[in-house]
Amino acid sequence: MCAALTIRPVSALLESLGIELPVVQAGMGGGLAGHELAVAVAEAGGLGTIGTLPPRGLARELRAARAATRRPIAVNLIQPLVGRSHREVARDADVVVTHWGRPRRRAGGVWIHQCGSLAEARAAHAAGADAVIAQGVEAGGHTRAALPARELFERVRAALPDTYPVLLAGGIADAADVRAALEAGAAAAVLGTRFLMTEESGAHPGYKTRLVAGRETLLTDLFGFGWPAPHRVLPNAATRRWLRPDGRTPRAIRALNRISGPLGRLPLPGSPPAQRAGFPILTPYSVTVGRPDSQLEAGALYAGETVARIGDVAPAGELTRALAR
Ligand SMILES: Cc1cc2nc3c(=O)[nH]c(=O)nc-3n(C[C@H](O)[C@H](O)[C@H](O)COP(=O)(O)O)c2cc1C
Repeated sequence: MCAALTIRPVSALLESLGIELPVVQAGMGGGLAGHELAVAVAEAGGLGTIGTLPPRGLARELRAARAATRRPIAVNLIQPLVGRSHREVARDADVVVTHWGRPRRRAGGVWIHQCGSLAEARAAHAAGADAVIAQGVEAGGHTRAALPARELFERVRAALPDTYPVLLAGGIADAADVRAALEAGAAAAVLGTRFLMTEESGAHPGYKTRLVAGRETLLTDLFGFGWPAPHRVLPNAATRRWLRPDGRTPRAIRALNRISGPLGRLPLPGSPPAQRAGFPILTPYSVTVGRPDSQLEAGALYAGETVARIGDVAPAGELTRALAR
């Protein structure tokens, strides 16, 4: 019996790429979303995305994805952290999803820009983006949004031409959420936290355990050394040690993060240095497989608000299909 399986139609843009399901796995940087995750999503019919990495790592992941699937693959570029070599690698992707910074086409192919405000969405549209993602404040990882995803989405949808594709990111965890996003007019649903909690994501096993148990997240700028930008994380020893009772980052750390901003433009190290929860240099590096267990308390455990509603680590292919039912 397959009566329960209702595959929703995808937008013309995704259809032109050969994507069957309106489900986009967000690029999650630093090794959280590598080729295993992107390929599993792509093979299931969604759009899989490789997250930002140093150029050689990004090229390796894209090659591995190409070897494993003939389906379209996206690459995510966090603009303040990437240079020309990243853009050269991104030329081999089917889709480039940019985030942060002035919206600019970074390579050929389809270009989607992830936005945190109506002004940013308008700028991306004017700069020639093929689509925008409206990212809400409930999203995991870095966000410049002040509004919940649905509210921002509605403003962006109303301001841009009817046929222009607007995707929705933030707060989407299950098939009912995907359906609601599509019914609101989204060209597709973009999910980060849900795909972080899969067998194929590159999150450290202890990070996955904490995600499954996680109920609460914090929007902070604590882990901003080299990239002083707001992000949503699970609490850990570093947040308990440094965040003030009102949740704010101490002024000295904010100043250090601000001054260190230009360091973010230097080439990313292949294997990031370990940091300590009690030492106020707190970088945005992800806590991936193979990093020391100590980083579970000292590093940024990115997660969106949906973590409170997700209680498992799922296989990404099955999950992609289930999200589109
Ligand atoms: C662990 C994690 C890492 C992320 N890293 C990136 C990133 O490197 N680049 C990016 O454009 N977005 C990143 N995001 C944000 C996603 O693109 C997306 O907007 C967000 O996950 C959607 O909200 P959700 O987490 O509620 O699904 C990240 C999200 C998470 C959860």
